[in-house]
Amino acid sequence: MVAKIIDGNAVARHVRQECKEQTQALKAQGVTPGLAVIIVGDNPASKVYVANKVKACTEVGLASTVYAFEADTPDTVVEAKIQALNADPAVHGILVQLPLPAHYDAKRVLACISVDKDVDGFHLYNVGALAQGETVFPPCTPYGVSKMLEYENIPVAGQNVVVVGASNIVGKPMAMMLMQRDATVAICHAKTRDLAQFTILADILVVAAGVPNLILPQMVRTGAVVIDVGINRLPNGKLVGDVDFEGVRQKASYISPVPGGVGPMTITMLVHNTVQAAKRSLAGAEAQLTESLA
Ligand code: GUN
Repeated sequence: MVAKIIDGNAVARHVRQECKEQTQALKAQGVTPGLAVIIVGDNPASKVYVANKVKACTEVGLASTVYAFEADTPDTVVEAKIQALNADPAVHGILVQLPLPAHYDAKRVLACISVDKDVDGFHLYNVGALAQGETVFPPCTPYGVSKMLEYENIPVAGQNVVVVGASNIVGKPMAMMLMQRDATVAICHAKTRDLAQFTILADILVVAAGVPNLILPQMVRTGAVVIDVGINRLPNGKLVGDVDFEGVRQKASYISPVPGGVGPMTITMLVHNTVQAAKRSLAGAEAQLTESLA
């Protein structure tokens, strides 16, 4: 068996086209979806991510503004900026690029973001809502994986899903999202003994560990769907995921490549969430108007 490659760029184009149409409809009603991005310090990878987020917003027709702070900026200054953005009706989504410098309490900063503008889905309220299957803004990377499965018509209900990696940004929300879609989910992590005994059971294997070549062909069931969320830069400069792509593609039924797999979906789902936030704010404003007219 040779796996079908899931083209993340194609799925991203499809979702972005939907976002573009919804943005045009919003603009016709006088609302331009707006994203505010806060970046603190000069982490080079974060700067690239932020530039790519702004570019994607522009391409789809959203407004975006970046607020860049020096690494030694007091947290009170950043928190005051978030409060101002919470109150700004032109801003529908607020994103604080992570990681923050070490002297920040990231949870406290994220908690300042209005739940209605939390397009990254990292606010504790949205995390809790996700656990109950009710979130408005699912975190972008796992949401992107979920969309990729949907786009390829890969069934999830009743399937054995193994998620490798238990981060707050990917592994944990991924598990909750797929459990919500009636999968049987196991989460493995750095301390899991004998990883292969779990991965071999997976109908759908999602790997987000940040370890090149962690998943070898003998760890994968024939016909499994393999989604590689890892992004690792090798010493020779090559970008690879966590999966031995060439080996595993001979065994899997579907596989996502790196680059060109999950990567383009993360930013796309951020754009999607921001458009949804703008739609919700318009619907909220209309509901308020109806109430005041009643
Ligand atoms: N850093 C790495 N991934 C992400 C993400 O999805 N959102 C934010 N805000 N920061 C990140």
